[in-house]
Amino acid sequence: MKRIYCDYAATTPVDERVLEAMLPCFREFYGNASSIHAFGLRAKRLLDTARGQVAQVIAAEAHEIVFTSGGTEANNLALQGFAYASQSAGEILVSATEHPSVRQTCMHLQQQGWKITRLPADSQGRIDPETVQAAISPETRLISIMTVNNEVGTINPLAEIAALAAEKGIALHTDAVQAFGKIPIDVKTMPVTLLSLSGHKIYGPKGAGALYIRRGTRLGKILFGGRQEHDLRAGTENIPAIVGLGKAAELMSAHGLEEQQRLTQLADDLLKGLQKQAGAQLNGPVEGRLPQILNISFPGKDSLSLAMALDLRGIAVSIGSACSSGTVQPSHVLKAMRVPDSLQKSSVRFSLGRSTTKQDISATVAAVTEVVR
Ligand SMILES: Cc1ncc(COP(=O)(O)O)c(C=O)c1O
Repeated sequence: MKRIYCDYAATTPVDERVLEAMLPCFREFYGNASSIHAFGLRAKRLLDTARGQVAQVIAAEAHEIVFTSGGTEANNLALQGFAYASQSAGEILVSATEHPSVRQTCMHLQQQGWKITRLPADSQGRIDPETVQAAISPETRLISIMTVNNEVGTINPLAEIAALAAEKGIALHTDAVQAFGKIPIDVKTMPVTLLSLSGHKIYGPKGAGALYIRRGTRLGKILFGGRQEHDLRAGTENIPAIVGLGKAAELMSAHGLEEQQRLTQLADDLLKGLQKQAGAQLNGPVEGRLPQILNISFPGKDSLSLAMALDLRGIAVSIGSACSSGTVQPSHVLKAMRVPDSLQKSSVRFSLGRSTTKQDISATVAAVTEVVR
């Protein structure tokens, strides 16, 4: 049985070219980047190259990038770091559709006296800039709104929100884990303060991510120890993973847009096929979305049964938020979009990527149709 992976939003395979770039870091260039000898200097150079590769994707300066262990840590560092550097607790505006790594960090900060205000999404999962504007109060210190939603693919109007935040002098964090390298982001023209990204969503290794920190932004620490990463992230740098992240970022800038066009076509074929043959209903916008993430309900069916039946036919999909699947929780994103309960319970996420082919799409449509019928 040929297995078809339709879960690229959960994680991606490591690109061969990324793996090739990483291997010498295990075999030859295993120095500690803080060491003063030649091995250490070599590691430091690799680190600097990767920093430049990541920065380039979003038009940042290399020194504005701090490597972390992934998107979760980047989100934690952004929010907690911002709060710890503030003189006093204030308000954080956060969208209702954020990833748990933002939601839970906000809950933690709430216990420390911060006021957390959740911004409602519209029926497409989008945060309207007017909603943000109306929620801003004299206590608002930080706004956190994801660039692309991981469950439904909605792209938020970040440029407008960033302009709004900048005008009011409020810091803006965006979780760009699903967006980085897939949609154009330019921090020179879009005034975001903090931006999180992750390696394993762009064909890099797991356990590597980064936080973009706009020059001049003060952040407190969440890890204590050595003075690595501009004294913002203690711990010996994971050079192989960081080199992999750098290479993966470079490949995204080289091929990202072309690949996006290919995936748009494939996703369109998948959606049309499923709508025609399996009664699929798309959750999320038709326009203004990352095309390769398709959240689809099959009225009258049960998500878990569908996902399991598809797995038996070799097709890997997600239900709810991939990061927390295993436990079948109702999706806070679909709830925030006010998707009716019955449709929430029958939703499945298909996410496509670099190795998805036209044949995979036809086979997936056929298998889903059979399972649904
Ligand atoms: C939007 C979003 N933010 C954050 C994360 C967490 O990233 P990581 O798995 O690198 O910790 C994910 C992972 O699925 C995500 O989709």
